[in-house]
Amino acid sequence: MQGDIEKILITRQKISERIGELGREIRRDLDDLSRDGEIVLVPILTGSIIFVADLMRELPHKIRIGVIAASSYPGKSMQSKGVQLAGSLPADLADKHVLIVDDILDSGSTIRAIRKEIATRHPRSVRACVLLRKTIPSAMQTPCEYVGFDIPDEFVVGYGLDYDNYYRNLPDIGTLKKEAM
Ligand code: IMP
Ligand code: MG
Repeated sequence: MQGDIEKILITRQKISERIGELGREIRRDLDDLSRDGEIVLVPILTGSIIFVADLMRELPHKIRIGVIAASSYPGKSMQSKGVQLAGSLPADLADKHVLIVDDILDSGSTIRAIRKEIATRHPRSVRACVLLRKTIPSAMQTPCEYVGFDIPDEFVVGYGLDYDNYYRNLPDIGTLKKEAM
C-alpha cells in the first residue's frame, strides 16, 4: 500500500490545517446566510467521505446531509468517461443553503452536473467545496467557491481518493508508482 506511493504531495498535517481554514471561510460566509435556516451538505460519494467527515466538524450550523454517488472513473480508468449520477438528492432543498462537497475538481463535469440538478430544486443558495483542484483549464473554469489546494495535473490517491477503489485509507495525498497502476 504505502510502498505503492511515488511521492507524497500533501501531508495529513497540511490537510488538517487547511480544512480548519476552509471551515473558517465557510462559517464566515454562511453564518449570516443561514441565521434563519439550515445547511444541507451534499457530499459526492465515494471520494469525499473522509473530507466531509473532517469538514463538517468545523461547521457548527444546523446541518443535514444527503449523499449522492457519482462515478466518472470506472475501475482502472484514469480518464473521465462522463458522469453517472446515482442515488437521489435529499428531498426538500427548496429555500435551503446547499453545499456540495467533493474530493477533487478535474474535468468539472461532476460539479457542473450536480449544481445543475440542485438548481432545479429552488435552493436559496448553492456552493461547492472541493479539497483539491487540478490546475487545468476545465477545472479552473468550473464555478467552485471553496478550494483546499491547487495541484498539478497528476493522478493522486489517499485521503478518500482512489485508484481502482484502493488507497482511500492512506492519510496523506500522493501519486502512485507506475508499477502500481
Ligand atoms: P470531474 O467530474 O472530472 O471533475 O471528476 C471528479 C471526480 O473524478 C472526482 O470526484 C474523483 O472521484 C475523480 N478523480 C479525478 N481526478 C482524480 C485523481 O487524480 N485521483 C482520484 N480520483 C480522481
Ligand atoms: Mg469522486
